[in-house]
Amino acid sequence: MPISYYEKVWRNGEFIPWESATIHVAAHVVSYASCLFEGIRCYETTQGPAIFRLKEHIDRLVNSSKIYRIELDYSPEKLQQAAVELVRVNKAKHSYIRPLVLRGYGEMGVNPLKNPVEVYLLAWKWAKPYLGEEALKRGVDVCVSSWNRMAPNTLPSMAKSAANYMNAQLIQMEASTNGYAEGIALDVSGNVSEGSGENIFVVRDGKIFTPPLTSAVLPGITRDSIITLAEELGYVVIEQPLAREMLYIADELFFVGTAAEVTPVRSVDRIVVGNGQAGPITRTLQERYLAIAQGRAEDKYGWLTLCSQPVVV
Ligand SMILES: Cc1ncc(COP(=O)(O)O)c(C=O)c1O
Repeated sequence: MPISYYEKVWRNGEFIPWESATIHVAAHVVSYASCLFEGIRCYETTQGPAIFRLKEHIDRLVNSSKIYRIELDYSPEKLQQAAVELVRVNKAKHSYIRPLVLRGYGEMGVNPLKNPVEVYLLAWKWAKPYLGEEALKRGVDVCVSSWNRMAPNTLPSMAKSAANYMNAQLIQMEASTNGYAEGIALDVSGNVSEGSGENIFVVRDGKIFTPPLTSAVLPGITRDSIITLAEELGYVVIEQPLAREMLYIADELFFVGTAAEVTPVRSVDRIVVGNGQAGPITRTLQERYLAIAQGRAEDKYGWLTLCSQPVVV
């Protein structure tokens, strides 16, 4: 399905039409995947469009760039401002915002240091739930992937880089080809890592577990939000390496991510999780998360950037 895009794209400080937002096929990024990016949601709220955790997403983009020796010409504040302007000029009510930092056209060879760095922000309408229509309510059936996440000191998992998504594609293609909504990858030690595009939480005996960043996970912003909200609600959250079999004996299991929001998992490798329905802790956290993101609850952590108001960054 073609994406339902918003017409104006921010490129290196100015707005251009969507059709003009192109790169040459010889650009460095095409051969060598030299791209860092973000995925951010802007929700439609009663106070107008609101971007969820914009600062944290831009900070992660800056950090991803730093890992790959890219110093951006734009300050984090300028990029936050650009995201807000993107929403405004496109009159977007709700959208998915995709900032991109890439190595462009210039030299051809592995060393990218002389290639120009280009920065884009684009947006499109979010058409349907990331993991399917019923996913948020009823949960998804997933498998453990035969593909591992990246080994330490190979491709850095703390960077949100295009290269990492070749690994994610292998996980997702295998899962969908075999009739599952998503795959959960293990790290190279065989411990639970994450889904192809989501972090994972396990509930067992009333406690909430999630793999630590050393288990090759992306430092997810939804993950961080869920840890905050779970602790606010009085739950114990433990970040520790998780054995694969924890997935099979969990009381509840759920994915979190900007796209997936909070999606219950109802089976892993056809082994039913709990009673096969979204569990009470999953539902409580899902509702609390969406209430804040969608502007239905007080924004007590300052997570929303309201695009209709003057923005202080
Ligand atoms: C591999 C991977 N893990 C986790 C996440 C969740 O991260 P976030 O909550 O920041 O969207 C994503 C989505 O961006 C992802 O692609």
